[in-house]
Amino acid sequence: MRTIKMGIVGLGRLGKRHAENIAFRVPNAELLAVCSIKQDEVDEAQKNWGIKYAYTNYKEMLENEELDAIFIASSSTEHCKQIELALEAGYHVFSEKPLGITKEEVDYITNIIEKHNDKKFMLGFMRRFDPSYLYAKKKLDDGDIGKPMYIRCYSIDPVSAVEGAIAFAEKSGGLYLDMMIHDLDLARWFLNSEAKTVFAVGDNYLYPEFGEHDDIDNGAAMIQFENGAVASFFAGRTSVHGYHIETEIIGTKGTLRIGTIPEKNLVTVFNENGAVRECHEGFLERFENAYLNELQEFVNCVLEDRKTPVGAFDGLKATEIGYACKQSLITNQLVML
Ligand code: NAI
Repeated sequence: MRTIKMGIVGLGRLGKRHAENIAFRVPNAELLAVCSIKQDEVDEAQKNWGIKYAYTNYKEMLENEELDAIFIASSSTEHCKQIELALEAGYHVFSEKPLGITKEEVDYITNIIEKHNDKKFMLGFMRRFDPSYLYAKKKLDDGDIGKPMYIRCYSIDPVSAVEGAIAFAEKSGGLYLDMMIHDLDLARWFLNSEAKTVFAVGDNYLYPEFGEHDDIDNGAAMIQFENGAVASFFAGRTSVHGYHIETEIIGTKGTLRIGTIPEKNLVTVFNENGAVRECHEGFLERFENAYLNELQEFVNCVLEDRKTPVGAFDGLKATEIGYACKQSLITNQLVML
């Protein structure tokens, strides 16, 4: 059985999970190298998981000729240059979103990725690999709800994680590019159409600290797509009940809803608060299967020499909408794409 030997850069909140998935949960994948600028993260991964190579310098990892592919899960500010370096060194690349945190970076790296089309490149829009979203997409494509007219997306991080989000804000690209981007991509995917006009509003309702990085703690956007469908989005950092991810698609013959109540599982707790359905606590829990499935798909694409289902173009398009949202927020004007 051929395996894809991978090196991962970034061993933080999400990188650690991706690393574990590569090392232990995906057939045909092998975690040969880990890299982080934090020595303790690298030491811990190497010791606990028995990883052959460990680096604190990314360029040194790229010199390891035993590797086939690089997985990028570092801070968003690093993605653009790390993608370019990995492709130029001859590796297949999976990168966490976003492609970059400025429009120039995203345009630039999209061209570089297209230039290296002999290598596989996949972007981490993992919601497309979540079993419920896949199920809904099939129903939509089969015409079960007719023509989609409206899509509504909520993505609200738990307030319990807000300190981390504030610390991350400087390198995140802001609420629209960091958080809402998943829903912007989902809307393109579900509607098979591109955004046409964008209007966005938002503020720092609870945490002015985000303002120090030109960011907001909660924001919304309304977008019209080229096919006439309308979409409304809400993203935030202050959900009190848990990690709230919800999507609704209203079609001419029916409606699909995913995650109306972001339930943790099938258990109802009856207590002094009534009949309680507990909620997911964060992205690692809610999208556990999606992270695994996207990695498996990337490995399969490399092994079978197939085109990856989510590429630079998707990153570029979602980013363009995210920027339009940011621009609309600042100018309080409708933005035409
Ligand atoms: P984090 O801040 O917890 O971890 C960042 C990691 O990158 C750390 O290990 C740090 O040492 C490493 N790093 C940073 N610069 C580096 C460099 N130049 N060389 C080597 N290592 C470097 O960040 P987190 O939350 O794990 O996010 C990582 C990325 O994943 C971000 O781009 C974020 O947007 C994305 N993300 C995606 C999610 C999704 O659901 N698809 C959810 C959460 C994050």
